[in-house]
Amino acid sequence: MAQVYLQDEQEEQIRLNMPQNVIIKRYAIVSAGRYIAPHGRNCLVIAGKHFLESEDSEIFFSSLTLKSVDFETEEYAGGEPEVSSVDGIVGRHRGGRFDCVVGIGGGSVIDTAKAVSGMLANDGGVEQYLELPGREIMRNSPLPFIAIPTTAGTGAEATKNAVIKNGALRYKKSFRDERLTARCVIIDAPLYTGAPGEVTAFSGMDALTQLVEAFTSNYANGRTDEFCRQGFRHIRYLAAAYSDPGNISAREETALAAYKSGVAISNAGAGAVHALASPIGAHTGLAHGLICGILLPRIMEINKPYALKKYAEIGRLITGNSDSDDEIMAEAAIAAVGSLARALKIPMSFHDERLNKLSAAIVGECINGGSMRSNPAAFDEEFWKAFVVEMSK
Ligand SMILES: [Fe+2]
Repeated sequence: MAQVYLQDEQEEQIRLNMPQNVIIKRYAIVSAGRYIAPHGRNCLVIAGKHFLESEDSEIFFSSLTLKSVDFETEEYAGGEPEVSSVDGIVGRHRGGRFDCVVGIGGGSVIDTAKAVSGMLANDGGVEQYLELPGREIMRNSPLPFIAIPTTAGTGAEATKNAVIKNGALRYKKSFRDERLTARCVIIDAPLYTGAPGEVTAFSGMDALTQLVEAFTSNYANGRTDEFCRQGFRHIRYLAAAYSDPGNISAREETALAAYKSGVAISNAGAGAVHALASPIGAHTGLAHGLICGILLPRIMEINKPYALKKYAEIGRLITGNSDSDDEIMAEAAIAAVGSLARALKIPMSFHDERLNKLSAAIVGECINGGSMRSNPAAFDEEFWKAFVVEMSK
């Protein structure tokens, strides 16, 4: 991963963790072998079913062969990454010939491949390394990891963590280490055109949430803010990518929004939406991006007085309106996010009684976590429990 040291306006040193090489090029898949070969000659390719059944996969594998890159394929089983699925792949290949791992697919595939790249070089099961009490730190550096995303959402291609769930124990935790950051990312807009409408909507709302939360985080800095500002301009095209799936320009814009949201959130931290999204997802099984889309407009209203200037700037960036009144533009930001969510058919609340009963457990699992600490407004456990109950209706 690249360790970029920069000086901000206050001459304070800021270190950004981000991928070393990012190729943003339409039809880059045709020459993927050229970008992958410098990182390894024996690749374990983990890919989604949709990709493996597409013509793109033949083009991709031919490009590897052309550059004398040997490979073996693991088809991703679907759903969100599970401890058992990561350990299963690692169990089949640890001690084998691989010297790099490629992940091609949505955020779950990318996160799985990222975790596998770490675990192939280390002992034990992935659960030992998740952010749980007594977790272990990787002794050895991961195998080089190359990310080729096909959905625009989590920004997993840019982050240093993989979110892994234990379905039986109902938790989701991160496998986090700066060394897990991708060595190379290939952003090839036509690959995103196959994402179904619901996936485009949910993942796009995840990217938007990440931009809002990183921009208003207590740990934001001048450099992460710049990634967010660019991301807000890109995310304007989300409605177009949803209504016109084959629109390659709109797909490219949303892909860049997702990538930049990943860099921003990985370095500035998240906020209350992501804090609550992990336990809500673990307990209900709802898609991460859907949960983000439901929570975001309401949590923006809650946070607005505590980050008014940043919210006003978001309003200006996503609406294109340059009104100088911060209150008006912060309201415009919330209204724009709400109307985008409605256009993408995201409901305004969960309508799920389970959340009412689980509110104490959900809030208990996230109130002391990093994402709550980076949220601009600090509220106690009772406040967030009442909020979860309200959102269950
Ligand atoms: Fe997210």
